[in-house]
Amino acid sequence: MDKVHFPVLHREVLDALKIKKDGVYVDATLGPGGHSELILRKLDSRGKIIGIDKDIKAIEFAAKRFSDSRVILRRGSFKDMGNILLEEGISEVDGILFDLGISMIQMKDAERGFSFSSDKRLDMRMDITQALSAWDIVNNYSEKELNRILREYGEERNSRKIARLIVKNRERSPINTCSELSKIVESIYRKRGKIHPATRTFQALRIEVNKELENLNAGLYASENLLKESGRLCVISYHSLEDRIVKQFIANKVREGVFRKITRKPMTASLEEIKINPASRSAKLRVAEKI
Ligand SMILES: C[S@@+](CC[C@H](N)C(=O)[O-])C[C@H]1O[C@@H](n2cnc3c(N)ncnc32)[C@H](O)[C@@H]1O
Repeated sequence: MDKVHFPVLHREVLDALKIKKDGVYVDATLGPGGHSELILRKLDSRGKIIGIDKDIKAIEFAAKRFSDSRVILRRGSFKDMGNILLEEGISEVDGILFDLGISMIQMKDAERGFSFSSDKRLDMRMDITQALSAWDIVNNYSEKELNRILREYGEERNSRKIARLIVKNRERSPINTCSELSKIVESIYRKRGKIHPATRTFQALRIEVNKELENLNAGLYASENLLKESGRLCVISYHSLEDRIVKQFIANKVREGVFRKITRKPMTASLEEIKINPASRSAKLRVAEKI
């Protein structure tokens, strides 16, 4: 298995997708291709995987990993999955996987500005061709907007205080790096809990930079139209805002008679998996089947 990234809930995902040897599968969040590789091993020469990622570096990494004509790699957002597949001459598929969030490769690359300890510029763009970065938000959004983002996307109780402090600090000079921002957030907490005090702030900024919740909604609706009858939708989410969107989408579609629920409760990682891959700790897998 890949040393850089161990695919989260990989056994559960492979089971849930009910892979057919000659099936066509979409890996809507390709990343370094961990899940795709496992799916590929189950396909024969007639099968196909379409791997999509916003991040050109993920596509380049995967292009080196897979020299296989059954794998199609496309840079783009999963919200545009319908058009991407149409351009490839594909109108329906047997399964779609979303493994949301960022990959360990993105997280560990200090230049990408995702991690709080990095002394690199605040960035957090998954798609490096996009204009808006975390720097723009931190240095240009109004106090009111910062407060809203921190509260809604970070579920941060101290959103008001943090927004005020950000504005106060940037009046002196711009807040340039991830570590500068973490220190500002840390300064309002007297005690440190189990998680880093800047975790919620960074989550909020990442969601705003990458429009993650809007994209997730659009991606789920796109998948509804692409799945064949009995096709499986598998979504791994990592925080409650994402999970709520997935849960509500599936519940609505079950009510409309479009999907059948496969997981009553989301599947989570075993203690054994969490020990090997701590990032799997917060993972929740929900599965639905197209009727
Ligand atoms: C957790 S990683 C996926 C890891 C992958 N499943 C594996 O096992 O190697 C999530 C990936 O999704 C990509 N991503 C996030 N939002 C996206 C979107 N709207 N469209 C396409 N890719 C997206 C990120 O750039 C990242 O590479």
